[in-house]
Amino acid sequence: MSQLKKAGIVAVALTLVLGVAGCSSEKEELNLTAQQEKEMSERLAPAGKVVLEKDVAVAAPAVAAGPRSGEDVYNKSCTACHSTGAAGAPKVGVAADWTARIGQGLETLYANAINGIRGMPAKGLCMNCSEDEVKATVDYMLEQSK
Ligand code: HEC
Repeated sequence: MSQLKKAGIVAVALTLVLGVAGCSSEKEELNLTAQQEKEMSERLAPAGKVVLEKDVAVAAPAVAAGPRSGEDVYNKSCTACHSTGAAGAPKVGVAADWTARIGQGLETLYANAINGIRGMPAKGLCMNCSEDEVKATVDYMLEQSK
C-alpha cells in the first residue's frame, strides 16, 4: 500500500469517527438541561399566557412588590365613579370638571384623594393602595383630563 493510499484511508477513517462523534454530540445538544428547557419554554411561551392557579402563589408577591401604575389603580378602583360622574365625582376626560379643583393646588388634591372628602371615599376605597400609588393615580387622572 502506498503512503498516499494509507493516508487516504486514515483520513476517511478519521472523517467517519469525527462524523459519528459529531452526530452524537448533536444528539447531546438536544438533551437540554432543566435551565435550558425553562429558558426555551419562556421564549416560546405566548405573550399573554394563562395564569394557572398553581402559579398564582409564585406570581402574587411579584405583583405586590412594585407600585401599581396610576392607570392600573384608576381602572381598578376609581373608574366606577370618575368615568361616570357618579355621586358628583369629577369626570376623567372632562377638563372643566377639574379646573376649580386643580386651583386648590396639587397637594390638596392628593390629600383629599388620600383622606377622602364628601362623596370621595378615602383612597377611593383602594385600602391597600399606598399614598404614592394614590398620588400617581391622581396624576394619571389629571393627565387624562387636560
Ligand atoms: C365611590 C365613588 C368614588 C370612587 C370609587 C373614587 N372617587 Fe374620587 N371622588 C368622588 C366624588 C363624589 C368626588 C367629589 C367630592 C366632592 O368634592 O364633593 C371625588 C373627588 C376626587 C378628587 C378631587 C378632590 C378635590 O379635592 O377636589 C380626586 C383627586 C379623586 N376623587 C381621586 C380619586 C382616586 C385617585 C380614586 C381611586 C383610587 C377615586 N377618586 C375613587 C367619588 C369617588
